[in-house]
Amino acid sequence: MSRRNKITIVGAGNVGATAAHWAAQKHLGDVVLVDIVPGFPQGKALDLAESAPVMGFDLKLVGTNGYDETADSDVVVITAGVPRKKDPVTGKFTSRDELVEINRKIVGGVTREIASRSPNAVLICVSNPLDAMCHVMYEESKFPRERVVGMAGVLDTARYKTFIAEALGVSVDDIHGMVLGGHGDTMVPLPTHTSIGGIPLTELLPQDKIDAIIHRTRNGGGEIVGLLGYSGYYAPAASTVAMVESIVRDRKRVLPCAALLRGEYGYHDLFLGVPCVLGKGGVEKIIEMKLGDKEKAMLEVSAKAVREVVAILPYGQNAQAAT
Ligand code: APR
Repeated sequence: MSRRNKITIVGAGNVGATAAHWAAQKHLGDVVLVDIVPGFPQGKALDLAESAPVMGFDLKLVGTNGYDETADSDVVVITAGVPRKKDPVTGKFTSRDELVEINRKIVGGVTREIASRSPNAVLICVSNPLDAMCHVMYEESKFPRERVVGMAGVLDTARYKTFIAEALGVSVDDIHGMVLGGHGDTMVPLPTHTSIGGIPLTELLPQDKIDAIIHRTRNGGGEIVGLLGYSGYYAPAASTVAMVESIVRDRKRVLPCAALLRGEYGYHDLFLGVPCVLGKGGVEKIIEMKLGDKEKAMLEVSAKAVREVVAILPYGQNAQAAT
């Protein structure tokens, strides 16, 4: 009998459980949900499994607090960690960078458990601070760089497209463009590479409106935290599932993802958001696009911010610029 794709999602919280939901709905494969809280992943998996007769998906859904059930996964999504929160007293939000110490221990431990049982899997990092956690997963798994990839650009780009569609009153389907760089306030939206049904964005919106959209996109995570008091999860989960789908179905979509650069865009040993071709092999290709001087300068600011967080890690010293 043929074997279905196997997708493991570690962290059955908001992003993890929602990703499991959409992966199941898209029939992407059997799903294993792992979480540290007893009963939690089991409950989420059972609830989701009980929706199958209504929704019509034939998948095996397993929830567990251990890792043996994850063996031989094709794709493993790691969302485990502590999300950004709003302090009820000071009203201040946890910055992504403040999470590095706590989440590196969680993500490192999870990665070792996964890597020993699924040595051929593609690992997708969702835990924040994203770019730094990609380094943790890469170092702890010892996987080739093609099989460790971070989810950030798809989400940032989705937010960017949402705001453009809203401003122009047009379908989100007809907006093409991407956001590069690190997953933080220094991300690099590319308005000169953005088009609406083939028409350049710069012809359709005045610069002040484009600037406002870029500002809102950079602040996209914070805007949701400000409203909810905790991080968003529909858009992050949808973005993660788009990557999972491109990998398990070998679609070779061109998606902006955090990939380990080895000279591309002038950077070495640094995870940074760049256009990637995602297929069965993971990051099958990094596409180097021509950037203008202003965009290169913005990417450098973003890379510097990522490098500062990565430098906190025990193995972060390797991350440096080539030029
Ligand atoms: N092993 C397994 N699961 C763990 C571990 C661990 N060592 N530590 C924490 N978890 C689980 C938590 O029990 C929780 O269910 O990770 C889950 C995280 O879920 P949420 O707190 O709901 O956070 P979520 O909004 O899903 O965000 C997850 O994605 O976008 C990023 O910044 C976000 O890093 C955060 C991650």
